Amino acid sequence: MSYAKLRIPNKSIEESYKHTLARIQKIQSHLDHAPRGSKLKDKVGVITGVGSLKGIGRATAILFAHEGAKHLYLIDFDGTNLPNLKETIEKKYPDVKVTVQQGDAADEDVIKGVCEQAVAEEGRLDVFFANAGIASKNPLHDTSKELFVEVMRVNALSCFLAIKHASTAMLKVNPAVGKEYSGGSIILTASSAGLRSGAGSIDYSASKAAVNSMAKTSAYQLQKTDIRVNSICPGLIETGMTTFTFEYARQRGTAAKIGQLNALGRFGVAEEIANAALFLASDDSSYVNGQNFAVDGGLSASHPVVPGRLS
Ligand SMILES: NC(=O)c1ccc[n+]([C@@H]2O[C@H](COP(=O)([O-])OP(=O)(O)OC[C@H]3O[C@@H](n4cnc5c(N)ncnc54)[C@H](O)[C@@H]3O)[C@@H](O)[C@H]2O)c1
Repeated sequence: MSYAKLRIPNKSIEESYKHTLARIQKIQSHLDHAPRGSKLKDKVGVITGVGSLKGIGRATAILFAHEGAKHLYLIDFDGTNLPNLKETIEKKYPDVKVTVQQGDAADEDVIKGVCEQAVAEEGRLDVFFANAGIASKNPLHDTSKELFVEVMRVNALSCFLAIKHASTAMLKVNPAVGKEYSGGSIILTASSAGLRSGAGSIDYSASKAAVNSMAKTSAYQLQKTDIRVNSICPGLIETGMTTFTFEYARQRGTAAKIGQLNALGRFGVAEEIANAALFLASDDSSYVNGQNFAVDGGLSASHPVVPGRLS
């Protein structure tokens, strides 16, 4: 039997796209009717890169609040949408404290400062989601040394600083606030581009490979502390970072083709990465450590070879 015949839904690409849009709408509206959870009850967390309206950071901040986080410290380089995010969370979840800060996730003073602030104000830090990042798309010979260094600074150095200073805070015990032992969860946003080639520019891919490496190395440097470090490797997600790709395809009438390369045959949305971040932040993942967690519809699971077309 040929694999072509096994392609289950005998649907046109337009029909599949309609199905994709309906599926995504359902995923994105989930929190509108889901009861409040308690997976992060009493937890204090920091998230970087929360400023983009369609971004992974914002979706995660809202989900963490839904799951009962006590206090969220939210940072972005671009302050434009921070007041809106604070207001949105506080209106829907009045029991969650929100502190927003305009700052550079790759600035050591900012990251050290926010970790110390959490310990000073709440007596503990439980979760750090180092999610801020920038993309570049220049081919090799148009990539300047300055661009390479800047992408490494924002994407990789920011994660190093998060691991260093968040773990310092997470090592502190404070029985007065229920923290009898050291512990916490550090989550880094890498990319499927950090797993293998073909999903990003050379500088971006190198920076995300560094992030994946740091998740593994730091998990061992922090051994026996109950501080876990993992990275998430998103595939193609519709956010501020990829708006151009999506808008361009829509203008050309090729939107239905976006995301066809992965096994699910569709793009993802920020809420799907937020769900993975919640898993890693909460005790649901208490034995998951030092992993690069691909959330990419299956993209990184396969070589780009189509079975049945080998001959
Ligand atoms: N969208 C995708 O397809 C995709 C795929 C793989 C990985 N990622 C990664 O996901 C993370 C989140 O990106 P997104 O897709 O939500 O994009 P986004 O552009 O919507 O959000 C990124 C946010 O990070 C902020 N930021 C950038 N540099 C910063 C800095 N130095 N300090 C503080 N904040 C800074 C931006 O202002 C923005 O609000 C990034 O690390 C990105 O590399 C995204």
